[in-house]
Amino acid sequence: MNERDSEIIEQLLARSGYVLVDEPETADLILINTCSIRDKAEQKVYSLLGQLAPLKKENPDLKIGVIGCVAQQEGEKISKRAPYVDLIVGTQQIYRIPSILDRLATGRPTREIATDLKSSYIIPAFQKLLRGTPPSPTPAEFRKFVTIMQGCNNYCSYCVVPSTRGREISRSVADIVEEVRILIDQGIKEITLLGQNVNSYGQTNPVDDHAVSFADLLHRVAEISGLERLRFTTSNPKDLSKDLIGCFAEIDILCPHFHLPVQSGSNAVLQKMNRKYTREIYLEKVAELKAARPDIALATDIIVGFPGESDEDFSRTMDLLETVRFHGSFSFKYSDRPNTRSADFADKIPEDIKKERLKRFQTRQDQISLEQNKKYVATLQIVMVESSGEGKVKGRTVTNHIVHFPCPDNVLPGETLSVRITRAGKHSLQGERNTDI
Ligand code: 5AD
Ligand code: SF4
Repeated sequence: MNERDSEIIEQLLARSGYVLVDEPETADLILINTCSIRDKAEQKVYSLLGQLAPLKKENPDLKIGVIGCVAQQEGEKISKRAPYVDLIVGTQQIYRIPSILDRLATGRPTREIATDLKSSYIIPAFQKLLRGTPPSPTPAEFRKFVTIMQGCNNYCSYCVVPSTRGREISRSVADIVEEVRILIDQGIKEITLLGQNVNSYGQTNPVDDHAVSFADLLHRVAEISGLERLRFTTSNPKDLSKDLIGCFAEIDILCPHFHLPVQSGSNAVLQKMNRKYTREIYLEKVAELKAARPDIALATDIIVGFPGESDEDFSRTMDLLETVRFHGSFSFKYSDRPNTRSADFADKIPEDIKKERLKRFQTRQDQISLEQNKKYVATLQIVMVESSGEGKVKGRTVTNHIVHFPCPDNVLPGETLSVRITRAGKHSLQGERNTDI
């Protein structure tokens, strides 16, 4: 999401004549885009700002801005701690950056803080920002993210997103389809539809397309000719519908890879997290997904050490890992985030216990990932090339596995090749080019 935001800002600024430079010392404008989902994002921003302060002394015309989630969350506090910051722009106001810079260039005002999250005001801007303005891919680019919605209405008790990104807003189908079409015309082969909870796409859309579900949207996008691979992220299991599960059986270009964050295997913890599903419901959906698409590779997110998580709760998470046998996962130690309910929960778990649980989880996940990956050895996989050089190629299977293989020919990013898998590691596969076909 933040990467896509950076791309949007880069594109907006390019229209105003800005170009990217490699060194902060040569810049006239430095924007720090921030994510505050975990850990001490705020501290990292303040420490980076401290490092940039001398540049501002050397070049008083330099403009420094903090944008994104930390800007949203901290607002004016940033200018109190770092008075040399010129602009503080929250998540829903990024489209205004060029006009803010124009105003700052006149010398009045000297600083601007834009952190409004009122969706009625934002919706037209959000739609307008994206309508007909997809980022132009560079020649080496073959895949792109397309934002289909922003914000989240779920209020998981540990999560900062609803307060940093605001209420859920879906983009119209017409805009999304238009953007995908333009990208394909520009040579893009793979699209990932992006949102905090794509499964609830269209449910809270105040603009149009009320009747269009995420499953409908997937069908509409998949019909666009020229698209080779379609993916999406991220999903809350509570909104994973049968129609969406059905898409994995019905849509050829929908990649059999699903990132479905479970967070915990304990019902007591899931309830305190306000996730609105149980372990049993999650496992049922996993079984349905595996039935719809037996080759599906599942990935998840896990939080260990949520307030009150007992040894028994944690063992339920370990047990869920054994049952589902995720191909991979992202796992994190719980951390308090500002304006979240769980920050006020009692029974915080000591750091050493969180650390030990995380290690146990990750060690077992690595073993399972390796076992899962070994199943691909001796199979043929269609690999989309990501990069190549010195006779070596790195690419990705439809199941999202990275594959390394030697290839003397000059191949370009986005090309697909048939590869026989020869070895499996826990994080990637190795193979050799299959030239039989
Ligand atoms: N502490 C630890 N991990 C968190 N995540 C979100 N909020 C927190 C938090 N307060 C993790 C979740 C989510 C992923 C993007 O970040 O696992 O799915
Ligand atoms: Fe955060 Fe995802 Fe929950 Fe929304 S669904 S509150 S983004 S964890």
